[in-house]
Order: sequence, then C-alpha cells, then structure tokens
Amino acid sequence: MVEIQILEKTDDFMRFIVSGVNVPFVNALRRIMLIEVPTMAIDEMVILENSSILHDEILAHRMGLIPLKTDLDSYNLPEECKCESELGCNLCRSNLTLEAEATDKTTIVYSGDLKSENPDITPVSSKIPLVKLAPEQRINLEAYARLGKGKNHVKWQPVSMCVYMYLPEIKVDLERCDSCGKCVEVCPEEVLVDIAEGIKTQEVINCTLCMDCADACPKDPPALEISWDKEAFIFKIESTGALPVERILSEALKILNKKLKDFSVQLKKGMKK
Ligand code: F3S
Repeated sequence: MVEIQILEKTDDFMRFIVSGVNVPFVNALRRIMLIEVPTMAIDEMVILENSSILHDEILAHRMGLIPLKTDLDSYNLPEECKCESELGCNLCRSNLTLEAEATDKTTIVYSGDLKSENPDITPVSSKIPLVKLAPEQRINLEAYARLGKGKNHVKWQPVSMCVYMYLPEIKVDLERCDSCGKCVEVCPEEVLVDIAEGIKTQEVINCTLCMDCADACPKDPPALEISWDKEAFIFKIESTGALPVERILSEALKILNKKLKDFSVQLKKGMKK
C-alpha cells in the first residue's frame, strides 16, 4: 500500500517520504512535474520603445524567465483553446505592460513595475531586476503571457528543484563494533552518535548514503551496514512560486493517470486488431 509522510511543508517547498512505490513510478512523477505541469510565462512581446542598453532580444529573454503566479483553472493551453487563434484570447492569454523611464538619475526596472490586466497573473517576486536605465532612457512594451510546459521551454517549468533519494537504512553490528568512534567523526550529517552503550543512529533520514562511515570503520567487513529501502523514497519539491507545491504534485498525478488510461485504451484497441 502506498503511504505518504509529510516531513516539511510550506507553500513553495515540500519534503515527504513515499513508500510502497518503485523507481519507475517516482521517476515518472518527477519528470511529469518538471516538464508537463503547465505554468504561465511571458511568451511574446511588442516593444514600442527601448532605449536601454539591453537589446530587445535580451530584454525579451529576461521577461520570459520571470516566474508568474499561475491560475490553472481560468486559462487554457493555447493548443487546447477553442479560439484556435495564433494571437490567443482572454482564455489563453494574459496581457502585461511595462512603462519605465529614468529622469535625472540611473534607475533599475524591477519585475514589480510590470502592470498586469489580471491581478492573479503577476510576477512571483516584485524584486527581480530587469534592466538598468540611464537618465533619459525609456522602456515601453506590451507582454503576452500564456500557459506552457517545461518540455517546450524551461521558463514554463513549475519547479526549481524536484529530486528524490532512497530512504536510508543503517545497521550497526554492536557485537563487532568496538566503539572506536571513527564513523562518528566522519559522518557529515551527525547521524551516528557515540554513547555509553556503543554507536547509535539518530535522524537516519538525514543520511546521504555517502558511505564515509563504512569506509572509516577499521573492521573488515565494516561493523556497520549502510543500505536503503527499495520501495521508499524521500522526495523534495521546490516550486518557483508559480503554483503551490501540492498543486504541482496533484496535477502531475492527474497527468500520469491520464497517460495510463490512454495507454490502456490504446492497448485494448491494439488487441482487437
Ligand atoms: Fe553519515 Fe554518510 Fe554514513 S551521511 S551515516 S557517513 S553514509
């Protein structure tokens, strides 16, 4: 049975243990979160004026990489929108504008200077520097944000980190261990402690499976055994802020479920032929 134990959770970060699954499953989930869960990003721009030091292309590139808060329930992916228009409509496109000028001193234009027509589609942070303007330089542009997927461009990736590792297991053979303490000294995560009864483990979940402790043990074979549970994983997901982390996970599960259903339908069709 699949079990989940949440270890840490904020809007943008989650660390949890998932057990009762295997590598293909967790890897599929990780890859779907990276490349298939859609988010909003600026995809096209009309630059009306740009007298800054940055070329239009560089400015457009910087704008595209600003993480935007995403409203997945109100917008369609452009390729699935009924409008079928290259320009997009209110259901697949959100407009933002940027008008900035430096008057008598150098000014930095930040992501927070972007004005959005939809208050739900705004930069995740207002403090991302976009360009420096010297006196009398100006920028005036319209930007169009759309939903997209990380497999087409990294600007649409909803996660800045999405990793997993096996759940570690450590066994100390107290009959052979003479408590020399060498393993305790080398462990960078302080997972091993030397107490009166011998070497003990604490917070095993922090073990990085580096094997330094086993290498440091003077016994041959080492008096401690480092291994891992093949059906339990520690998952860490960090959102760019575009979507809450649990929404990214639930969307990834929906997508995986749909892929499996499609696969099953195609398989049945193929068997009938
Ligand atoms: Fe520590 Fe590495 Fe061993 S993290 S417990 S020295 S495997």
